[in-house]
Amino acid sequence: MNSFSIYTPTRIFFGTDQLAPFAASVARLGRHALVVVGGGSVERLGYLDEVSGALARAGLRVTVFRGIEPNPESATINRAVAVLRDSGADVVVPLGGGSVMDAAKAVAALGALPGENDIWPFVLGQPRAFQLAAALPLAAVPTTAATASEVTPYAVISNRAVRGKSVLAHESFKPAAALLNPAFTAKVPAVTTQDGAADILSHVLENYLLGGDESALADHHAEGVMAAVLESLPRVLANPGDLAHRGRLLWASTLALNEYPNAGRRPSQFVLHSMEHALSGWYPDLAHGRGLATLYPAYFRWLLARGRAQSRFARLGERLFGLAGADAADRFVERFEAWLGANGLLQALGDLGIAEADYAAVADYAVKTYGDGRQLDALGALPAAEIVAIFKATARQARVPQG
Ligand code: NZQ
Ligand code: ZN
Repeated sequence: MNSFSIYTPTRIFFGTDQLAPFAASVARLGRHALVVVGGGSVERLGYLDEVSGALARAGLRVTVFRGIEPNPESATINRAVAVLRDSGADVVVPLGGGSVMDAAKAVAALGALPGENDIWPFVLGQPRAFQLAAALPLAAVPTTAATASEVTPYAVISNRAVRGKSVLAHESFKPAAALLNPAFTAKVPAVTTQDGAADILSHVLENYLLGGDESALADHHAEGVMAAVLESLPRVLANPGDLAHRGRLLWASTLALNEYPNAGRRPSQFVLHSMEHALSGWYPDLAHGRGLATLYPAYFRWLLARGRAQSRFARLGERLFGLAGADAADRFVERFEAWLGANGLLQALGDLGIAEADYAAVADYAVKTYGDGRQLDALGALPAAEIVAIFKATARQARVPQG
């Protein structure tokens, strides 16, 4: 196993009865909470009242910022920073999906830098990248099982004016506390539940396939997360109120990107994420997980056709589907694609309204923002022209009618 250093400072409260202790821990971080929410779901479902009430009972003042959109927009984040400063809030509490959590991190970071009012120049690929190195304390309440933003140092934000989507990252963005209440995910629509499951899988798959094989424990961790998702997604689609399987998805999402699954093996680029972030930057109506799911089969086949990650695919075939023999790698891709189809996650980019005429520009954005300017690194070069080929190859993925 390789040497590593990881830092996981988040106190996690998991369960349907952990709101009061969570609120008490927020009260140790500050006196006035800016609660950040999205487009209305968590308010309509009563979670905002529940969380705000618990924070108030723990002695906090509460100010609410509403209106973070999926693929959070930098201009909205800038408006939230102004509200943060006017209110005097000293701790930021996102209540929502990855978009809300990421926006809140950006608000906590920009809000800690006096005189700065625009977040976009600080993202990867822009002039002031990595200059945000401190943030107000954060305590996160995820309401989707997807991104693990409640434990990660990342915030992914969009800028519709330039069709861009990029990343902020600093250890100070890791929330000090997180409340994982499976009941807060029970009403997530089927499509968003599917998107989230695809995202969880990618967070362990990326490094499993392209990283080293030095850590058997990292492999087992990743395989366990994937097995849980393969089993639990169909259960919650069939029975959305199944809190046991909702809880497994929620915990799997945290475990997938909390730094443990990839510890001890050679790191790799997050290639699928680089391609997908470019796509959902260009098309902000595209959900991140949906974009990833759409790229999986075409990307996997592209790797296998070049003899890349062969043994890792074969191992996944054995561990997840009990496959053996010389064609286990190919059969893994077939089985995985069938699972996507059976769970509403198989489609072509064209089905999502993404125009072939844009493929080259999107690929160019991906290699410029996330690669070396010409290519990504997928156990060897993945140049912009090959990204276009992967996008085109999704056309053979037939959407499976559901229901
Ligand atoms: O806006 P509202 O009304 O809140 O509705 C949201 C939104 O429409 C809805 N929703 C959330 N919780 C719900 C709910 N509806 C009913 N019940 C609930 N409990 O779901 C929709 C999608 O929300 P969003 O936050 O966009 O989804 P997700 O959690 O998948 O987050 C995606 C974002 O996170 C980024 C993605 O790129 C994307 O921008 N990521 C963040 C990462 C990180 N910070 O570490 C890593 C990931 O790889 C990812 O890139
Ligand atoms: Zn992701």
